[in-house]
Amino acid sequence: FQYPAPSNEPVLTYAPGTKERELLKQTLKQLKSIEHDIPMYIGDKEVRTGKKIALRPPHEIAHTLGYFHEGDETHVQQAIDAALKAKAKWTALAWEDRAAIFLKAADLISTKYRSYINGTTMLGQSKNAFQAEIDSACELIDFLRWNVHFLSEIYRQQPVSSPGIHNRTEWRPLEGFVLAITPFNFTAIGGNLPTSAALCGNTVIWKPAYTQVFSAQMFMRILKEAGLPDGVINLIYVDGPVLGKVCFGHKDFAGIHFTGSTAAFNHIYKTIGENISHYRTYPRIVGETGGKDFVLAHESADADVLATALLRGAFEFQGQKCSAASRAYIPANLAASVKEKLVAGIKSFKIGTVEDFSNFINAVIDERSFNKIQSYLDKVKQDPTKATILAGGNSDKTKGYFIEPTVIEAKDPKFVTMCEEIFGPVLTIYVYPTGEFEKTLELVDSTSPYALTGSIIAQDRAAIDLATNRLRNAAGNFYINDKPTGAVVGQQPFGGARASGTNDKAGSMLNLYRWLSARTIKETF
Ligand code: SER
Repeated sequence: FQYPAPSNEPVLTYAPGTKERELLKQTLKQLKSIEHDIPMYIGDKEVRTGKKIALRPPHEIAHTLGYFHEGDETHVQQAIDAALKAKAKWTALAWEDRAAIFLKAADLISTKYRSYINGTTMLGQSKNAFQAEIDSACELIDFLRWNVHFLSEIYRQQPVSSPGIHNRTEWRPLEGFVLAITPFNFTAIGGNLPTSAALCGNTVIWKPAYTQVFSAQMFMRILKEAGLPDGVINLIYVDGPVLGKVCFGHKDFAGIHFTGSTAAFNHIYKTIGENISHYRTYPRIVGETGGKDFVLAHESADADVLATALLRGAFEFQGQKCSAASRAYIPANLAASVKEKLVAGIKSFKIGTVEDFSNFINAVIDERSFNKIQSYLDKVKQDPTKATILAGGNSDKTKGYFIEPTVIEAKDPKFVTMCEEIFGPVLTIYVYPTGEFEKTLELVDSTSPYALTGSIIAQDRAAIDLATNRLRNAAGNFYINDKPTGAVVGQQPFGGARASGTNDKAGSMLNLYRWLSARTIKETF
């Protein structure tokens, strides 16, 4: 069975008067009108522990969407048992049948549940309709379809044989269970991490961030409707340390598919190392972590292209993308006009709830995040000799966790907001002397431990060439004359190295290889 490369799912516009806009508005009302009671999904059971945690839209914290049931060590163990029990049957299923389930899930999202997956993402994660559409509808659908294509390409790869010798490769799943830990910021990542491993024949424990549960359970229900057998993906809500204690001490732990913070990934990596002698097999460790993504402008840059790359790259979804533009290097010859464009752009952004589709900026995910971002803004305000705020800088958490989109100008290119990941709507710019492009390339490369995404904005081909070469290791996704966000599945495989992760490129064959363990079979006649 060969599955050709699919087309990317078309992005709906939600323009006034469109059918999709009306439907989404109705769905948002409906989702808000009931109190959701969200179970864990373990094996064939919907598990309600009674330990209820409230879900509230980050932009409207007075409203309760409902509750999810938190589990403990027992539930992690039950999920592992269910995954191991389901494994033999799942692996034995023809891969075409496994694929059909995920293709059906993609179709269900596209045609039946689009407004629900977008609606739960909007309310649960405070993502506006346009950002939800590209994430929880299009990117998620693309992951599901493209992974089937990638796996069909992998399965086709076979060694040569010769007279009297017949060689073949069996693309087995890993031996044991796979753990998927997913972040709040992309519903599509939440969907991709467990399903890519499951498509390859693995069974999975899926732990989403608590702030992702509303959309995660929606996707889980869609998978069930598409025919996913019980126990193949087990969705549990447990605290990280509780999960780690049971999973990383288990002999059948076979791999982790992780997206989240660098600190959490470092801890996981160490814990797996410490436990290495307990495991039957060396676990696969796949992680995509933080970023401190740059936009570097050359003196030949088009000021409008640069300003758009910064405004969209830094502020869409409140800058809560690991790929978000968060440090910019602008040559002095462009500084005045670009600063003016940034200030005007920020003034034009409307801030508020996701239900009003004219709001570009919504809330940041939770109070912890709000406080962290606020602490960086305070650092700027404390010492104006090092950095100043050009636009924004205010925040308000009375109704929701709102932070104004903010541009900081750093006088020191190693000022803290140029170096550390903030994960919010905060962009720091540094103006470098015109003519010091080469020196600035060194600065870009050495300022941050991360290497996820970055952009060069220039019209001079030699400058583009120089940046592409010198910044070879500074970003896993490198953009020329574009913002550093918005990778499309099948078009820009996504991931970075250094402190940004293992660079196993989500949305590519490379990622799927990690969930397979090949057996070489030689037969002589
Ligand atoms: N893939 C997303 C982007 O490119 C980040 O996870 O923005």
